Amino acid sequence: MAEDGIVPRTNITELLRSENVTKICAPMVRYSRQPFRLLLRKYQCDLAYTPMIISNSFVRAEQCRDIEFQPNPLDRPLVVQFAASNAEDFAGATEIVYPHVDGVGLNCGCPQRWAMAEGYGAKLIKQPELVKDIIQQTRNRISDPDFSTSVKIRIHPKIEDTVDMCRKFEYAGASYIAIHGRTTKERNQPPHYDVIKIIKDSLGIPVVANGGIKTPDDIEKVSKLTGADGVMVAQGLLNNPALFSNCTSTPVECIRDWLKICDEFEVGFTQFHHHLIYMQKSTPKWEKQIFNTLKEKSDVLEYLSNKYEL
Ligand SMILES: Cc1cc2nc3c(=O)[nH]c(=O)nc-3n(C[C@H](O)[C@H](O)[C@H](O)COP(=O)(O)O)c2cc1C
Repeated sequence: MAEDGIVPRTNITELLRSENVTKICAPMVRYSRQPFRLLLRKYQCDLAYTPMIISNSFVRAEQCRDIEFQPNPLDRPLVVQFAASNAEDFAGATEIVYPHVDGVGLNCGCPQRWAMAEGYGAKLIKQPELVKDIIQQTRNRISDPDFSTSVKIRIHPKIEDTVDMCRKFEYAGASYIAIHGRTTKERNQPPHYDVIKIIKDSLGIPVVANGGIKTPDDIEKVSKLTGADGVMVAQGLLNNPALFSNCTSTPVECIRDWLKICDEFEVGFTQFHHHLIYMQKSTPKWEKQIFNTLKEKSDVLEYLSNKYEL
């Protein structure tokens, strides 16, 4: 950080091109919020995403901006992910966050029915010309070439359709593409890492592989199978925020760090408790049933201090 408190912007393309595979926290509605991102940054997370923010509300409502986005020099490098159905909303929202972050990402992967009905998320992979327009208009309005404009996609059932689409995004000026290796209809089946590899081999810009990474060995495996420049993880980090530090399950130290962060940022009970539920995923079912029904912070703290001698 510079003396004036301003953090120099990280060029994410360069970060992705660096020798080591870049480890990225995926966008997660309700979960990849600032307190959790700060926890991950203690455990070798190189880059983090905000949850998806609806660009239209973000541009129009100050209240939405205050709730969804609080700049913090310790919370970098950071990508803000927006849902948008047109260039004006995405570019407008980008201009607002531009001074405080390292890049923006367009959500082209959310398969939920409400999002698709609004023209958001995976609806956009059926409209590559619109996505091109969104990327181009945004790049034209941002002067800093180090600022990254990226997309996060799901794949099409046909490989050639996915490659064609990604090439269009590259020509439009996307800084990199994050690929959840499943189609819009697929849920828990293994991701198509072979398709991510074909896309990586077809593009000049960096590619990030996402889907199904749960353990440190998976990071290695997916990097090798796809040749991707970065790996992006969602569920695996909820269950184990120290995954990028090579831990196979959540260490007690990490639970201790979460308690400290929650105190410092006055995190509400639901957020505080939900993350602890995820972090203790591997505890026996009977124990989980007790922990999950606790309703007061003091009860949670007592439970944890008995269990882990915190
Ligand atoms: C709780 C939760 C919230 C999510 N929210 C978003 C989101 O806001 N934007 C997005 O692009 N994907 C979202 N996703 C999808 C993830 O970013 C990721 O693509 C998907 O979970 C596959 O990665 P994983 O196998 O590591 O979980 C979410 C996933 C989870 C589990």
